[in-house]
Amino acid sequence: GDRRLILAIESSCDETAASVIDSDLNILANVVASQTDLHQRFGGVVPEIASRAHVENILPVIDESLRQANATLQDLSAIAAVTHPGLVGSLLIGLTAAKTLAAVFDLPLVAVDHLQAHIFACRLAAGRDVFPAVGLVVSGGHTNLYDCQAPLEMELLGSTIDDAAGEAFDKVAAMLGLEYPGGPSIERAARNGNPAAYDFPRSFIKQDRLEFSFSGLKTAVLYRAAGQQAKTVDPASLSRQQIADIAASFQEAVVDVLAAKCGQALQQLGYRTLCVGGGVAANGRLREKLTDVTSQCGAELIIPPMELCTDNAAMAAIAWELLARGETVALDVGVQPGLVR
Ligand code: KG4
Ligand code: ZN
Repeated sequence: GDRRLILAIESSCDETAASVIDSDLNILANVVASQTDLHQRFGGVVPEIASRAHVENILPVIDESLRQANATLQDLSAIAAVTHPGLVGSLLIGLTAAKTLAAVFDLPLVAVDHLQAHIFACRLAAGRDVFPAVGLVVSGGHTNLYDCQAPLEMELLGSTIDDAAGEAFDKVAAMLGLEYPGGPSIERAARNGNPAAYDFPRSFIKQDRLEFSFSGLKTAVLYRAAGQQAKTVDPASLSRQQIADIAASFQEAVVDVLAAKCGQALQQLGYRTLCVGGGVAANGRLREKLTDVTSQCGAELIIPPMELCTDNAAMAAIAWELLARGETVALDVGVQPGLVR
């Protein structure tokens, strides 16, 4: 065909996603099969279950994305797959599908970095150049701050030394007897709570270092909810108001540090744009604080619509940038589950 389209595939964690994006970065399809239901009763993503679900979902998701884009494989200029970082089994399903299509249809294959893609979602949402920018990726697996000079030039400024922010939400929600995923549950409970009820720790907030730590906060919540002696919380021992107050105070502590570090990074780099990605960007209190901190810095805040913040394949449109540089990969390319900096 004479259309110029990329079929992008993302399967790094627990979403099976495929997208079709044209060379002007128009998103023609953005299909995501979520596995939240499968992992819910385990309170977190179970890698083996994730891999099996990807196997079942990958071809229907690819078919659906081509159907929505009214495209055929003849319309494609390249196939893109997220190859790092992520769960090894999950990544392999998407990459294997991508390799197979690339081999059969003799198309170039492009390997995409999941974290660069999250920031590129801001470029997609804005519809124009957003660089240079400070980038924040805040999800169940990542809490990373970046110096983003260009789509493919991102330098890690700092990340979490223990739990990711979303992981902290999930763990604290479990402690309080709230359902998985914890972020939305905590946010809901917090609406009726007092964010100043408990003065939970805000690690590194007064220091220049652009790093995060949420394990001390998690422990402080545990002690508050369970009492100093107990090792586990009995949520039934807490009143609705206590749960609401703990949730609100916890959420306030997390968003305080996230917003403060974004402000520090903007100031240190002198940039006028903050780009945010990842599922925790759904949090309304975080959005408020980021709005405050960016306006104080005279900077612009870019948070894409939620379907581009959580894991999706449209963000892998960064493959167009790679393709323009001739950065395609051979069919024997592997996945790199670990974080590549
Ligand atoms: O990006 P995402 O969908 O998946 C990955 O982790 O890659 O992010 C999921 C994370 C979960 O930890 C979830 O609890 C958190 O994002 N999350 C939230 C909210 N919605 C989702 N955290 C805080 N507030 C929310 N409203
Ligand atoms: Zn992600």
